[in-house]
Amino acid sequence: MADARPFHWEYRPEPITREIFRVEGGRPLLGIVPISGAKNAALKLLAAAVLTGERCRFENVPEIEDVRVMAETLADLGVLVEHPAPNIYEIASGDVEWLFVPLEAAARMRASFMLLGPLLTRFGRVIISNPGGDRIGRRPVDLHVDAMRALGADIEYRNGYYFATSPGRLRGADVTFPLVSVMGTENAMLAATLASGKTTIRPAAQEPEVDDLIAFLQAMGAAVSRTSPDTIEVEGRRRLRGASHRVVPDRIEAGTFAVAAAVTGGRVTLEGSRPEHLPAFLDVLDRCGVQFATGQDSITIDATTVGPGMFRPCAIETGPYPGLATDLQPPLCVLLTQADGRSTIHETIFEDRLEWMSALRRMGARISIHGGHEATIAGPARLHGAETEIGDLRAGASLILAALAAEGTSTIHGAHHVQRGYENIERKFLDLGARIERLEEGTVSTTS
Ligand code: UD1
Repeated sequence: MADARPFHWEYRPEPITREIFRVEGGRPLLGIVPISGAKNAALKLLAAAVLTGERCRFENVPEIEDVRVMAETLADLGVLVEHPAPNIYEIASGDVEWLFVPLEAAARMRASFMLLGPLLTRFGRVIISNPGGDRIGRRPVDLHVDAMRALGADIEYRNGYYFATSPGRLRGADVTFPLVSVMGTENAMLAATLASGKTTIRPAAQEPEVDDLIAFLQAMGAAVSRTSPDTIEVEGRRRLRGASHRVVPDRIEAGTFAVAAAVTGGRVTLEGSRPEHLPAFLDVLDRCGVQFATGQDSITIDATTVGPGMFRPCAIETGPYPGLATDLQPPLCVLLTQADGRSTIHETIFEDRLEWMSALRRMGARISIHGGHEATIAGPARLHGAETEIGDLRAGASLILAALAAEGTSTIHGAHHVQRGYENIERKFLDLGARIERLEEGTVSTTS
């Protein structure tokens, strides 16, 4: 039974324990790492559970801060949230007492906005705060709001909150996005499941996590399907039922550990990762000359013969799936510092997602940034330990990768950003032979 936490009308930021990672680099990572369930699937699955009053059960949910924030946000609404065992969540949304998602949730996690579609379509109204999330560029929610309006909702924006109402059921419609949006697609899809009539979403995001959400909705009895790669069609139903679902593996975590193996000259098997979800990423590894072998549910990276300093330079460009995930751009940047020659990165999804590279420069990387979207990397660089600060989730994990590849010891401030999205990251690195520890800011300790 979820503990009944008091409802917070005011924004009260949770006290953040300031922690650092201390990493002693220069050791090849060796062994097997289990890949956890995907953050970007789990958060939407938990939100989707409010589409029904019946109990939903999720397995392989990653034990990460963002999932805890979503679970707490649901519990604050009056939803029954149970966490009977590690990686398992059960949700029953019979009584939702509050149709209000406060700034506290939104400031902690952008994905709290995923509650807009399901709460509005099931209960006919919701007040939801404008989200914060990672500090990477301007990240508006206009596409989500326009999609709800296309489905017949009235939405007003006042004092940082969206006030959304629907006089009756939402109405199925053609939802046409000006660009591909992952959460925009998902919010529209969740809202359409209980709308009257048919909805067509185009262009729909094609990320594997979107298909994982479709699979869960189908198990709930929703009439949702991807009718062509960029089109999702939904025939609205009056009710959905409870269902069980196992969260798809996290392809971004898999990519992060793949690069860790490569830049340390190691050999690591990513257990439970799906090679078919990483086509563009594996293509980059291939072009860089990183050796790997794929199984049905595993990928083994072997950089023990062709290792750091010997990779081929490469030009990479991020894009919506099946293009290269923007979340894998920071880890790949670390890889490219170990290529023999000049590589380029073109970030097409988010503004300001290259800023973190200044921290990498402090570790000896030679990177020049042109505008907000282009970077040139001259390799191979001899990385050395440094003191750096994490600004967002993916950049944070990538600074750990750089520190693992570097000579000497690195101190990385802002460890809480990484806990948002990576389950047991330091435990997983330790099990591969890394020297890493997480310490409270100001603690003096020898490296384990
Ligand atoms: C999701 C992922 C995030 C990933 C991103 C792109 C989750 C919880 N997060 O974020 O990890 O980096 O996809 O793969 O799943 N945009 C607008 N207006 C909107 C919404 C988006 O202009 O209303 C723009 C964004 O600024 C960006 C682009 O659309 O330039 C794509 O962003 P989007 O796919 O929506 O990212 P998220 O769903 O927020």
